[in-house]
Amino acid sequence: MCGIVGYVGARESVDVLMGGLRRLEYRGYDSAGVAVIDDGGRLETAKRAGKLQVLADELERHPLAPGTTGIGHTRWATHGGPTDRNAHPHLGDDGKLALIHNGIIENFAELKAELEAEGFAFESETDTEVAAVLLGREVRETGDLREAFRRTVNRLEGAFTLLAVHRDEPGLVVGARRNSPLVIGLGEGENFLGSDVAAFVEYTKRALAIGQDQIVAITADGVEVSDFAGDPVEVQPFEVEWDASAAEKGGWSSFMRKEISEQPDAVANTILGRVVDGQVVIPELDGFGDEMLRDIRRITVIACGTAAYAGMVAKYAIEQWARVPVEVELSHEFRYREPVLDEHTLVVSISQSGETMDTLMAVKYAREHGAKTISVCNTQGATIPRESDGVVYTHAGPEVAVASTKAFVAQITALYLFGLHLARVRGTLDEATLAGFVDELQQVPAQLAEVLAESERVAQLAHWMADTRSVLFLGRHVGYPIALEGALKLKELAYIHAEGFAAGELKHGPIALIEPGQPVFVVVPSPRGSQNLHPKVVSNIQEIRARGARVIAIAEAGDVAVLPFADEVIRIPLAGPLFEPLLAVVPLQMFAMELSEAKGLDVDQPRNLAKSVTVE
Ligand code: F6R
Repeated sequence: MCGIVGYVGARESVDVLMGGLRRLEYRGYDSAGVAVIDDGGRLETAKRAGKLQVLADELERHPLAPGTTGIGHTRWATHGGPTDRNAHPHLGDDGKLALIHNGIIENFAELKAELEAEGFAFESETDTEVAAVLLGREVRETGDLREAFRRTVNRLEGAFTLLAVHRDEPGLVVGARRNSPLVIGLGEGENFLGSDVAAFVEYTKRALAIGQDQIVAITADGVEVSDFAGDPVEVQPFEVEWDASAAEKGGWSSFMRKEISEQPDAVANTILGRVVDGQVVIPELDGFGDEMLRDIRRITVIACGTAAYAGMVAKYAIEQWARVPVEVELSHEFRYREPVLDEHTLVVSISQSGETMDTLMAVKYAREHGAKTISVCNTQGATIPRESDGVVYTHAGPEVAVASTKAFVAQITALYLFGLHLARVRGTLDEATLAGFVDELQQVPAQLAEVLAESERVAQLAHWMADTRSVLFLGRHVGYPIALEGALKLKELAYIHAEGFAAGELKHGPIALIEPGQPVFVVVPSPRGSQNLHPKVVSNIQEIRARGARVIAIAEAGDVAVLPFADEVIRIPLAGPLFEPLLAVVPLQMFAMELSEAKGLDVDQPRNLAKSVTVE
């Protein structure tokens, strides 16, 4: 939600900034802008409403003067619509300084009134401009950008990452963060700032993650980090694990298509190094001694959107394997209901970005109220893992398409590994049973590759259905969250009304929606499942078919019982019943993607969305 990049060095900064913004565009694409201090010591800015390409075209027509210090921003609008005027950077100190922002400044109205009373004028409707004008006033008082910036951030409430440059101090970019992300990239004779490492991974893999309420000043040769009081703080460097090509389309027509195809690797890489001699080991959780894990009486999973559906899938497996109650709650609901938490409660957060504000706030709340916290995260150096007692990283690689796909299967994989680890420590499964589940998990990457090989059929189906106005999704047990995820993907990518239901719930109301021709996807449980759910779902199919529904069944190979009742059957390979969701979700992702493309929509950057939601 808003992408930020800063640069000081010897390169042409506008090139570095535009390259960084291209990689960060998934974070917001309402408008974009850059500010550069040119070699003559002037501050030049360019900003435009619309996607980054609009700004790129503008810079092509009217290039900025050369300069090696600059900041850039891609916006997801909060305060003020997506217009040229509201685009960042915003200016202060009579146009001598430029500032960009990610987050929401909650006390902006009060600060604006204070500044207006002093005679300052504003050009935009944004909260950000208030910070820019305030910084300008402080620069005038102190004559020092660093000190002025420190004073400014201490006046702000809410969530923010801010970067600023001032023409009187060329060669310096200052930044600060509170509850929004900011990472430093360390180069040779150049340094970078970014909302995430994608902003600079093309130039360096050495990075520093800045902590909460910290300020950073970068020059070409140095990096200084301090707290909001101005006292220096130590920050730990880390190496970025993936390289720039991982965040490129690499010949694929979209990031979404590429990322869907990368799912076998996302699962395999998340398992890699975590199964030794047939046994799950999670070295990252060494800090959680076995005693502590045995002591857990309840697990609460907190997450949003697709990540929450991954949690819902994992609930079935963890409860079955480790015999510990698991509840799944949306992060933004969690802390507002005074949840019962104590040292025997484990709160597991799931977040691809590791920056989702709703989830971050819920993790903080859980820790403050005595719970132990583990995060499942796909992004190194992100805030949520840093605020948690432990982290199990997913190794899906960078996910650039705004709607989540490969992170979802990687999240389920990491949670399943955790569930199996817990079951071993708590002694709830015998060795042979445990080994059987580990084996089933290890087969998933190859099975995913088989599902992907059948993509043509799903593409055809989507193209036939390009005019569809509403689609329903049904599932049961682990298939239920998959139905929810299938519906979410279709809403996000193809802007089609879609609903997911637990198949058993149909007769309690939603069956009234069924009319002749209504398309319904049904995730059919394995006939081999111990709960005998298969015949029940087949009956549900018959019920909706009798009312004219057009049924598309996702069923395992060899399941002939669905054939007489389904209009279409999409096959997935035989997998353990708990592992089917990892496979069944893929045709639903592909369906949404193909339908989006058939409608001529932007599948990577759907309207109104941003990937990393860093506002509450
Ligand atoms: C849907 C999607 C979102 C995210 C949600 C949480 O395709 O991507 O629903 O899953 O915003 O994001 P993270 O996992 O970054 O916390």
